[in-house]
Amino acid sequence: MDNIRTSLITGASSGIGAALAQALARPGATLHLSGRDKTRLDMVAASCRDHGAAVECRVLDVCQAVAMADWIGAAGQLDLVIANAGIAGRSPDGGPENATQTRAIFEVNLGGVLNTVLPARELMAMQSPGADGIRGRIAVIASIAAFIAAPDSPAYCASKAAVDRWMVATAPAARRNGIVLTSVCPGFISTAMTAGYQFTMPGLMDPDRAARIILCGVAAGRTRVVFPWWMGLAARAAGLLPPRVMGVLRRP
Ligand SMILES: NC(=O)c1ccc[n+]([C@@H]2O[C@H](COP(=O)([O-])OP(=O)(O)OC[C@H]3O[C@@H](n4cnc5c(N)ncnc54)[C@H](OP(=O)(O)O)[C@@H]3O)[C@@H](O)[C@H]2O)c1
Repeated sequence: MDNIRTSLITGASSGIGAALAQALARPGATLHLSGRDKTRLDMVAASCRDHGAAVECRVLDVCQAVAMADWIGAAGQLDLVIANAGIAGRSPDGGPENATQTRAIFEVNLGGVLNTVLPARELMAMQSPGADGIRGRIAVIASIAAFIAAPDSPAYCASKAAVDRWMVATAPAARRNGIVLTSVCPGFISTAMTAGYQFTMPGLMDPDRAARIILCGVAAGRTRVVFPWWMGLAARAAGLLPPRVMGVLRRP
């Protein structure tokens, strides 16, 4: 991670985004962090400053395309951008997300990712490449849910499948232009998102460990980072099952 000095992270006020910010915080590092909750964002920023990083915070909704482009465009040189902000919604009766949740999930998990990655790609294309030929790195936090069609969260699974496929399919062309794209597909991570889940979450991992795995994969230039590996394998196998059997699955 030595060549990653300046990073920008959406959804840094909580969970995986906060853990990523803290893992990147060190003397000489500059972090641009955003989220909607100013109090929690400021707390994360303070802890990153305690580790020696310079931190710029922005209270910003990833659905605001123009404001996102302005924020990213004004950040200066960026070595790493992480489109992490995301939401999930569950119906109390275990059924699919309702209409409002469905629209919000696509707006944040897909629209918000586009509002982050497209301006970041544009900015990085104008940056000079380093000695390794890399102009910058962009990661999106998708999910192992990208590989399944869980009936309790169709919009979430579909939104994550869309960003995963888009990132992986775009990666070769971006790489030829010196930009490394990574789709990150975690299993269950113990954050505010999973705090209310009433079912057993196999392989549940703390966000600090998840952040280390993510940054290791991003630094290695991997196009897709799936963890825990066995859960990724199980989800891919489950994705091959006939739809009637998929009816019992729950998504990460
Ligand atoms: N936890 C898991 O098991 C798991 C597994 C796989 C993938 N993921 C993905 O990992 C990412 C982070 O989730 P998490 O588990 O860390 O959840 P979390 O603790 O609930 O954090 C979500 C973050 O996204 C931000 N956010 C949500 N909507 C936003 C919006 N419209 N504009 C700007 N920021 C917004 C939140 O900011 P505010 O709170 O300030 O609004 C918060 O910082 C998500 O994309 C999620 O889908 C999570």
